Amino acid sequence: MENKEEIIKVLIDKINNANDLKTLNDLKVEYMGKKGIITELQSKIKDIPNEQKKEYGMNVNEIKNAFETNYATKETELKTAELNKKLESEKIDVTLPSKRIRKGSKHPMTRIREEMEDLFVSMGYEVYDGPEIETDENCFQKLNLPLGHPARDAQDTFYLENEYEAFLLRSQTSTGQVRVMEANKEKGPIRVVCPGKVYRRDDDATHSHQFMQMEGLVIDENVSMADLKGTLELFSKKLLGDKTEVRFRPSFFPFTEPSVEVDVSCFKCGGKGCPLCKQTGWIEVLGAGMVHPNVLRMCGYDPEKYQGFAFGTGLDRFAMFKYGITDIRTIYGNDLRFLNQFDRKDD
Ligand code: DAH
Repeated sequence: MENKEEIIKVLIDKINNANDLKTLNDLKVEYMGKKGIITELQSKIKDIPNEQKKEYGMNVNEIKNAFETNYATKETELKTAELNKKLESEKIDVTLPSKRIRKGSKHPMTRIREEMEDLFVSMGYEVYDGPEIETDENCFQKLNLPLGHPARDAQDTFYLENEYEAFLLRSQTSTGQVRVMEANKEKGPIRVVCPGKVYRRDDDATHSHQFMQMEGLVIDENVSMADLKGTLELFSKKLLGDKTEVRFRPSFFPFTEPSVEVDVSCFKCGGKGCPLCKQTGWIEVLGAGMVHPNVLRMCGYDPEKYQGFAFGTGLDRFAMFKYGITDIRTIYGNDLRFLNQFDRKDD
């Protein structure tokens, strides 16, 4: 092979002139590929006369080594250059101030709900979360409000039409009473709170079409009005302060007998009278009573054996008092100017 030196010179030149990895890789194909220059030289060895084979083979090897060494050097050089370029373009200045990470905060209703749940859990209650889409039966009939009962008027709600006609958006968390009693197969004692959203056909500054309630239900043998009073007194003092007084007024609810409305002494003025309590010294916070025998019976409990008390309270009212919110609709408006005011409050 007379032109060995020439072949080596050309390939070194070509490698040296390659300015990027793609061009370099093309050279690999040109020389070492299936039809590459070196590959062809190698395949020709079979046609070389025996006495020249050894020398020919050595020459081809020399060309191949020259290619491989130069190729490897160039490849390292180009890869390093590429990496340096990348590092340069992606350089970060660690001394720059960091971006402020915006931290969300809990919605005021979540705060109130969690606070109340914690209180009842500490008294041995379980928390039950029922569905917001309910049947007429669970929302009214099994709570002693048969079809056409006048007390339904106060809780007009949203009905789902057509095939779902039988369904409605629950107007009270008292539905939780029915669900928990029916789910309790052994028909044994119950101690539960059911917080959640409820709906009514209302819309003004103090009534929203969507609001939150928390229901409480205790069923056992020998439960009396005294237990109800003690529980609600403890709850009010823990939530609103030790000095809080509780007052029971006779009332009517179809699902309790007797029924009461519960007031707490005004937590702003301590009972002296102020704009918050409309100068009465009292604020109404709860409806409650002894579970009506009809309700017990409809939910599978024997009223001769078991008694129970129940109570229901509006969480929005507590939030409004606690945070001085004057329009209930702001609670559900999702306006950040409102929500940001609760950042880190109480934490
Ligand atoms: N469900 C009633 C309402 O929405 C509140 C209530 C009153 C719940 C008395 C009770 C109760 O469990 O015993 O107005």
